[in-house]
Amino acid sequence: MHPGLLHRRFVTDLSSSLFSFVLPLLPTQEERAVKEEVRSLIEKLVKTIEPSARLLSFGSSQNSFGLRNSDMDLVVLIDDPSANLEASHLVQMIGDLLQRETNFDVKPLPKARIPILKLTLAPSSALPFGIACDIGIENRLAIENTRLLLTYATIDPARVRTLVLFLKVWAKRRRINSPYRGTLSSYGFTLMVLYYLVHVKQPPVLPNLQRIAPLRPLAEHEVMIQGRNVYFFDDTETLRQEWSSINFETVGELLIDFFRYFSHDFQFNNSVMSLRAGQLTKEIKGWVNDIDVGGLNEMARDRNRLCIEDPFEISYNVARTVTKDGLYTLRGEFMRATRILTQRPDRAVIALAELCR
Ligand code: GTP
Ligand code: MG
Repeated sequence: MHPGLLHRRFVTDLSSSLFSFVLPLLPTQEERAVKEEVRSLIEKLVKTIEPSARLLSFGSSQNSFGLRNSDMDLVVLIDDPSANLEASHLVQMIGDLLQRETNFDVKPLPKARIPILKLTLAPSSALPFGIACDIGIENRLAIENTRLLLTYATIDPARVRTLVLFLKVWAKRRRINSPYRGTLSSYGFTLMVLYYLVHVKQPPVLPNLQRIAPLRPLAEHEVMIQGRNVYFFDDTETLRQEWSSINFETVGELLIDFFRYFSHDFQFNNSVMSLRAGQLTKEIKGWVNDIDVGGLNEMARDRNRLCIEDPFEISYNVARTVTKDGLYTLRGEFMRATRILTQRPDRAVIALAELCR
């Protein structure tokens, strides 16, 4: 067969293989139900300490990019402004309470920069992988960025969800999804994919929800929470009616091009990915990484190897965990993936299995 034709067949095959690959990795209804029970139980207990408290889920269980057995991200919000509870104190009190009242293994970290409570539950038949859960306090921005990600997914679920979910599995299997070991968080990978779909692809697959043409009066373009503008266009009904992409690439094509772009085109040394504003420079952001040499500044230098601006906390580099070695590994993985998908266009399922080996 002609090589061009062979490649076309491979790409079509790749799209359907991606859907089948991701499907069995989604959380089951049972898992969702158990997790909701856990949330509700903990919320009841927290209300005995502070009646105005609510416990909300955020992260992948709410943004539609969740995989089976992923951890739970929860946050305590206190609606009564007169409550006046300090986060560290609250973490300790909730920790003590859960220790007494539940089977969770409880680890409060009240002295951490951002006080949190870590819970784990040993595996059981309903939950063969147990539960791992982080509870934070008053992190309202996390709720907003979760909603932003969900809204992006809702616009084009078949392509956006499939791409993000596959890349999360790939990153986990290739062990490049460990912020504590110098690589990138799931949140970082998700922002990278969205950045690519909004700003790299021409024509774009997704609109920029933070800069969308003013369908509403300008005054509504600023919504402040914890000192940050968290405005984005979240009217999914209007989006469905008034926005449609003229990019018709399949999810297989988008995946191949994603890996190619981050293997060859993205300027890791001086570019910043901003979902809000497109490509920025490290210089403009003040995220330059090699002013200081050696010694004490070694850590500081490593903070801006890879730069991904948080959509709302714009002074914050979501990829600050990526070290020099971590970036080298990540770039190597993008190249490996490109090689597998372009040089061996045999059966797509085999290519995907090799990709995630
Ligand atoms: P999995 O747990 O791997 O399924 O992915 P996830 O989508 O839950 O991502 P992750 O656990 O990395 O992060 C959970 C949520 O925490 C994200 O959706 C964000 O709301 C928030 N978050 C994580 N990392 C950061 C960060 O570096 N900055 C900010 N502002 N929020 C973060
Ligand atoms: Mg999570």
